Amino acid sequence: MNLPSQTTILHVSDTHLSPDFAASTEMWTAAVRYIEKTRPDLVIHTGDVVHDDPDSDRDHEFAAFQMRRLTAPWRIVPGNHDIGDSTPDPFRGLASAERLARFRRHFGPDRWSVAIGGWQLIGLNSLLFDNRLAAEEAEQWEWLEQRLLEADGRPIGLFMHKPPAINSLDEDLHVNKSIGVTSRRRLRALVVSGTLKLIGSGHLHEHVVLHSHGALLVGAPALGPVPAGTATWNLGLRCNGLVEYRLSGDTVRVRLLREADLASATPAGLRIIPSAYARACPPPRLPSIQRGASELADSCGRNRHMAENGTRIKAADNPMVYVILDGKRRALDEPSYVNIFSDWEGIDEVNVDDLEDGGAIQAGYIGSANGETYLVADSVKYRINGNATADRLHLKVGEPRMLSTEEFGALTDGAQLG
Ligand SMILES: [Fe+2]
Ligand SMILES: [Fe+2]
Repeated sequence: MNLPSQTTILHVSDTHLSPDFAASTEMWTAAVRYIEKTRPDLVIHTGDVVHDDPDSDRDHEFAAFQMRRLTAPWRIVPGNHDIGDSTPDPFRGLASAERLARFRRHFGPDRWSVAIGGWQLIGLNSLLFDNRLAAEEAEQWEWLEQRLLEADGRPIGLFMHKPPAINSLDEDLHVNKSIGVTSRRRLRALVVSGTLKLIGSGHLHEHVVLHSHGALLVGAPALGPVPAGTATWNLGLRCNGLVEYRLSGDTVRVRLLREADLASATPAGLRIIPSAYARACPPPRLPSIQRGASELADSCGRNRHMAENGTRIKAADNPMVYVILDGKRRALDEPSYVNIFSDWEGIDEVNVDDLEDGGAIQAGYIGSANGETYLVADSVKYRINGNATADRLHLKVGEPRMLSTEEFGALTDGAQLG
């Protein structure tokens, strides 16, 4: 029997990342490895990506860097630790325009819509519901109505940080653990009309599955701290892990993956590698004499060294990653980065302003022609000198794009790598 084609979505939540809390980063790294190996179609993070303080630029920057390690497409919505809380009993204060701007600066839009696997998946900022940012909330409801119209009958899955309800979409509870009554009623109307099939959320740090008015309400467990003792309402299963959805037609299969499941899917021999970010200062590099090499100071402003062509660099206080090509720094967007590089390890933290800005790469990939492999940045090709160079520079040379004669002929030569 042939199984119908399936689209795999991984739902992660409550990673609570900070350079000061290694346990959260290790659990996140296990998820990154799992995602690297299983290659889901989309990863959705339902918030509390930041450890605790919504005003900590340092933690936001660290968490954004960690998200950029993902080798699969991803989307995120904010949690109360990312932009502030909603009533009642707001923890560390209410969501504010300044906090929302910080989140958007580090992670991009706080709401989004993705058509995938015959479904329309929509991310919402649940901290806007029944809160003080009334104009933002009204704009979001209007935006949602437009996205629902555009879905044109496709089943819709909604993802947000706070759960839509504790027990039922009919309840009148107003508690910190879920969204408020007014917004719950609006979502219930969409469920009752048959529009909404699935609502995924986080915040509880427990895995919960409910069925209400024909919709599936799924709470993802945390990848960060698991509550202990009697401090929680004991609504679901306390564990570290994530939720997998397999979409096929208008059905969805839901599977909980616990910590041990993530580890068992990790290829033998791979170990959890501490984030490159966690290094206070990178060790000095040995000088290398090469065309295109450039002199740099590290992020501590010392140890001036020669940076090699093809090296990835970033500033200590900014998640933007650059690759050095022809002696200049070239900014990489996420698609170009994952086309060219195999992982997010070993990125040098340096004073990026020491290097001339060569402009952002619009289209970057690894290409192959005539038995040679190249890093291609827009219209320039850089020959990669052997596997040792590819390994050292973390280049993803395993599945190069085969270049046609015309494509190859249109590329000019840059400095060789290695
Ligand atoms: Fe959380
Ligand atoms: Fe939360």
